[in-house]
Amino acid sequence: MSKGWNGRKPAGRIAYVDGRYVPHGNAGVHIEDRGLQLGDAVYEVFGVSGGRLMDEAEHLDRLERSLGEIEIVMPMPRNVLMLVMRELVRRNGVRDGLLYLQISRGVARRDHPIPKVALRPSLILTVRSVPPGEFGKRRQDGVTVITRPDERWGRCDIKTVQLLPNLLAKTAARRAGAYEAWLVDEAGLVTEGSSTNAWIVDGQGNLRTRPLSHDILPGVTRRVILEAAEAGQLPVVEEPFSVAETHSAREAFISSATGVMPVTAIDGWPVGDGKPGPVTRRVQELYGLTSAGRAAKSGT
Ligand code: PDD
Repeated sequence: MSKGWNGRKPAGRIAYVDGRYVPHGNAGVHIEDRGLQLGDAVYEVFGVSGGRLMDEAEHLDRLERSLGEIEIVMPMPRNVLMLVMRELVRRNGVRDGLLYLQISRGVARRDHPIPKVALRPSLILTVRSVPPGEFGKRRQDGVTVITRPDERWGRCDIKTVQLLPNLLAKTAARRAGAYEAWLVDEAGLVTEGSSTNAWIVDGQGNLRTRPLSHDILPGVTRRVILEAAEAGQLPVVEEPFSVAETHSAREAFISSATGVMPVTAIDGWPVGDGKPGPVTRRVQELYGLTSAGRAAKSGT
């Protein structure tokens, strides 16, 4: 195993499940966990950079919102959860990577209605190192996307683990040799990517992304980019764009906890000159600055 970020050799991958740090290979949940049986669970994915959790407060705010929308209570106070997440990053010796958090309603006899008796929500945390090349190359060179019908439910603003339409769209993209699938509503407008928010730089030079509604996930990276764009005086319009408009876009990119990645082709059509554009590069720069600034301020 490679050395951890502090130069020491980690003892082996550790997960956190329901109050215990456990070897990753032995970690598991009960077979009647409602997350497993019914998809009755929400999740978050945090970037880890330099051993710190990126945009931690924003992810926790969204987690609390998702839980509230489906009436699950936090399994522990927020400040304790933060300590546990940091401890898990430390124990795994992760410097750059991703932390996955999942909270399900808990364990009960399989039955659709939310049980009347209060359940103890299950908490799963895992963290893994991401080699610099894994996303770095895509952030540098860009990725391609295809479009697919958006076949998801009506509350895409809640970050639930019910990801079947997302994973089928992503699989279609990968089989087509693309990285991501942009999902398209019945009006022909792009909602978002299967696991990313979707952006273009339109013919007028505006950054364009769909406004928040039940149709998309309120991406943390999206929000940080909007703030960074304002600070950097980049013109932004929160308006939907059509697939046809993507063909005349000057630039395009995707955003998520894995960063900002230029999009160089959509359904085989090159975006602009088919290379990452200057506005996207500026957004990457501004996002990096803003996010690093936030991590430093929150003292993670
Ligand atoms: N996906 N839209 C969807 C449908 C997503 O699943 C995600 C995140 C985003 C971007 O959100 P954020 O900027 O907060 O990461 C948008 C995570 C990374 C995942 O499912 O792995």
